[in-house]
Amino acid sequence: MSDAHVQDREKERQEQDKRITEQLSRIKQTFLVMSGKGGVGKSTVAVNLAAAMADRGYSVGLMDVDLHGPSTVKMLGLEGEPVKMSGQRLLPIPYGERMKVVSMAALLEDRDTAVIWRGPLKIGAIKQFISDVLWGELDYLFIDSPPGTGDEPLTVAQVVKGARGIIVTTPQEISLLDIRKSITFCRQLDMPVFGVLENMSGLICPHCGQRIDLFSTGGGERTAREMGVPFLGRIPIRPEIVVSTDGGQPYVLSNDQGKEDFKVIIDKLEQGGKK
Ligand SMILES: Nc1ncnc2c1ncn2[C@@H]1O[C@H](COP(=O)(O)OP(=O)(O)OP(=O)(O)O)[C@@H](O)[C@H]1O
Ligand SMILES: [Mg+2]
Repeated sequence: MSDAHVQDREKERQEQDKRITEQLSRIKQTFLVMSGKGGVGKSTVAVNLAAAMADRGYSVGLMDVDLHGPSTVKMLGLEGEPVKMSGQRLLPIPYGERMKVVSMAALLEDRDTAVIWRGPLKIGAIKQFISDVLWGELDYLFIDSPPGTGDEPLTVAQVVKGARGIIVTTPQEISLLDIRKSITFCRQLDMPVFGVLENMSGLICPHCGQRIDLFSTGGGERTAREMGVPFLGRIPIRPEIVVSTDGGQPYVLSNDQGKEDFKVIIDKLEQGGKK
């Protein structure tokens, strides 16, 4: 690479960093939803927290940095919504009056395309999700990440200063080992852990109302306490969650039980979320 080229790249990088700082200055609070294991309900949690906060009157952004398996757009019934540009900036897809969504799913021509992402490309795409998307003023930005501690959560932790982690787990022992890894990851990167949320925590029998602890219960709370991080609450296994998620309707908006199930966590976000 010539010197001039290197200088151009450096200038571009500095300009992007400036745009990132500007954008973040207009976002009051950011939460990164993460987990050690896949399929524990991160996207479900991110979508429902975002929808519930918008329902309470806040302006909310939802950014899906799961580049390989973006699912939030589908969970909100926004598949096929066109993505618009304003000058050089991408306009997030509106959902209702107060929520905006950005996901790689909306940018791919064909939803069955498997994109092969090398690490640096992923980092670049995620940085652009912040620098080049017109988020505007937001009270809350929720970021949904793929499982584990790879490039995606790492980039968010490094780039989005002030983000806090919401760690989703299921209650069984095997998952609890993974919360420890997620907490350690946050600590290594100086990203505060807002709390641990135990999902799929017990099943309420629809016939007799008895609670069945399918995956055991309470492990998330115990591990959070042992690791010295807040416990946010538990969401039971609800067949309605699958139905509403598959139907593109957030559970907290489509179902009174949904509001109730998420209430404790949403209250904590609303109160403790204020820094
Ligand atoms: N509390 C719950 N009760 C019943 N089903 C649930 C619950 N939470 C999530 N699900 C269902 O579990 C499946 C996985 O959830 P989701 O896609 O949110 O997990 P994820 O952690 O984001 O997965 P990935 O690691 O692949 O990104 C979905 O079908 C979702 O509807
Ligand atoms: Mg997901």
